[in-house]
Amino acid sequence: MFRNLVMSDILSFFSDQKKSSADIEAALLDMKSNDLPWATGKVFAYVYEPAPDAYALIKKAYMLFLTENGLDPTAFSSLLKMEQEVIGTAIQLLNGDDKSAGNFTFGGTESIILAIKTARDFARDKYPEKTKPNIVLPVTAHAAFFKACHYLCVEAKIIPVNEETFTPSMTDYENAIDENTLMLVGSSPSYAHGVIDPIEEIAALAKSKNLLCHVDACVGGMYLPFAKALGYDIPNFDFSVEGVTSISMDFHKYGYTAKGASCILHKDRALRKYQIYTCSEWSGYSLVNPTVMSSKTGGSLAACWANLSFLGFDGFRTIVEETQGAKTKVADAIQKNKHLKLLGNPVMNMIAFGSNSIDLFALAAKMKEKGWYIQLQFKHGISPTNIHLSINQANVPHIDAFISDLTEIVEDLANSETHTALPFPQEFLDSLTPEMVNQLKESLGVADGEAPVDLTLINRILDAASPATRDMILKEFVNGLFR
Ligand SMILES: Cc1ncc(COP(=O)(O)O)c(C=O)c1O
Repeated sequence: MFRNLVMSDILSFFSDQKKSSADIEAALLDMKSNDLPWATGKVFAYVYEPAPDAYALIKKAYMLFLTENGLDPTAFSSLLKMEQEVIGTAIQLLNGDDKSAGNFTFGGTESIILAIKTARDFARDKYPEKTKPNIVLPVTAHAAFFKACHYLCVEAKIIPVNEETFTPSMTDYENAIDENTLMLVGSSPSYAHGVIDPIEEIAALAKSKNLLCHVDACVGGMYLPFAKALGYDIPNFDFSVEGVTSISMDFHKYGYTAKGASCILHKDRALRKYQIYTCSEWSGYSLVNPTVMSSKTGGSLAACWANLSFLGFDGFRTIVEETQGAKTKVADAIQKNKHLKLLGNPVMNMIAFGSNSIDLFALAAKMKEKGWYIQLQFKHGISPTNIHLSINQANVPHIDAFISDLTEIVEDLANSETHTALPFPQEFLDSLTPEMVNQLKESLGVADGEAPVDLTLINRILDAASPATRDMILKEFVNGLFR
């Protein structure tokens, strides 16, 4: 069955006749009705929902700058001013100084791409002997680093993490460093398990070897400074640590602003020069881009600026206080539950748990029936199949109900027989080719052009597949999903 849009479907959308805006709005709302219902406060991933008053302001600010173009800061000085203030705030929160610099980007991935481009181009200038550049990073570093390395032709040298703490060892960093190494990477914290890497040690090693050191604080940057102010024991992870040269930090996660909001920060402006791309080789306008995006809306920057001004330090501290309270409740409930195992030591509100006795796929499906969205993470190396929770402020009022449903469902599953077997032998999965994946999709009723409603079986298959097979299945699936 092939459900991708055919030309007649396209014509009904882009018709000869103008449609009314009321009809169009109705159609948009109709499409939205099948989306993940994030406004229920029962979703533990993807969405970092602002409180209603902040949300109204964010929308207003976004729309005020929807059409302004961040391509040229001399044409839109408003955007330059807002960016300076937003980046100045980020530098201050992360203990930079007058020499520090940064740029507003559209997401953590863009910030990470820029950190690696900076390291690569710095080496091209200063250490041209590094002809096959690499960075060293733990397997728990976000996939964005792997993607950035792929795009920029830099090798990602992956080191393992400890199976209890989920942190890397300094010996493994040291052993991985070679004459082509540009930079060491650590997370504060990692997305998957919410674990903070030993940044002070990583940065000290980087400094002693004359290497750059990037800290990925995409999720921690707008959270940990407030947790520290509240008295939580947060290890130093920012520019206060000697040797940290750059940091990525997102506003569109725990900065609770509209998506398209992150930043890349450098301890020293001198390094930022290598982040900037210029092109005067073509026949058009002189292009100078400090970031990957070129033409870009001013909306997300204005929304971010407005939200930071609105909430201020106290506002964020209150949000962190509430979410830390909710995280402690959930982590305690998991630790007390004999069927569940908390993975690592999650310092902030992002946690992962596994289980040796219950079927986590069934747990996710049963929780979904009760309206909770929790995120499955597939097994990889020492990290078992697990459930990830990003607890945001919108979840806080629902946290007791969440724990109660989770505990009840876990108990039910422990007392019932669940079927975890794949619908075919593992050898079949290991021998899959792209053609077989497409046949398998058909036999499982997965139609091209449509997102499957129930992902339980597909998730089981992906979990059982090797990383290479998993990548191949995902590529086939997504290639069929989009027209
Ligand atoms: C630690 C970390 N780094 C990087 C990223 C990538 O950010 P984005 O999805 O905004 O590109 C994420 C996303 O969740 C993250 O959690």
